[in-house]
Amino acid sequence: MTQHLTIVDHPLVQHKLSLMREKDTSTASFRQLLREISLLLAYEVTRELPVTKREIETPLMKMQAPVIEGKKLALVSILRAGNGLMDGILELIPAARVGFIGLYRDEETLQPVQYYNKLPKRMEKRTAIVVDPMLATGNSSAAAIDLVKEAGATDIRFLCLLAAPEGVARMKEAHPDVPIVTASLDEKLNELGYIVPGLGDAGDRMFGTK
Ligand code: URA
Repeated sequence: MTQHLTIVDHPLVQHKLSLMREKDTSTASFRQLLREISLLLAYEVTRELPVTKREIETPLMKMQAPVIEGKKLALVSILRAGNGLMDGILELIPAARVGFIGLYRDEETLQPVQYYNKLPKRMEKRTAIVVDPMLATGNSSAAAIDLVKEAGATDIRFLCLLAAPEGVARMKEAHPDVPIVTASLDEKLNELGYIVPGLGDAGDRMFGTK
């Protein structure tokens, strides 16, 4: 991927995102929309994966058919909200390996604190797609990508639903080599570190915890 930030402005993505932003959207609808939108975002974040040719046999003849090159992809979810985005992607890429990084945000410092880290083996041979719906301060995303790099990965992409300019800038500074795909670049962060206009707390909205 060449661009640092890709905004997926497809009408279906934008329409579904608007429904998700509405405060009266139910948990069930929010989850369903997230699943649908994640398929569309996954399509975009995998657009430039290298392909190779493999001989297959159709009912009519042999052919050299394109298949994705290299080892299975690694999807890395930043807990807990990343899981909502990952479920849909796994439908599209069911053979992907899956990792989890648990980080919570210290509400005072807004700095990430790690409590879980379990990544697939041989990360150096895989394309890694790190997922978190909200790129807010960028602190937890940058910390998660530090861990993915420590595990050996060099080909990493970051997928989110919404990004704040502050988060994009933080990621560009910490990980200029990691392209970001998002459905929207929102206006800014508020004083509590929420993206505005945003959609609120993504984890609470997808899991119904508020
Ligand atoms: N995390 C969220 O869930 N929402 C925000 O707006 C920012 C961080």
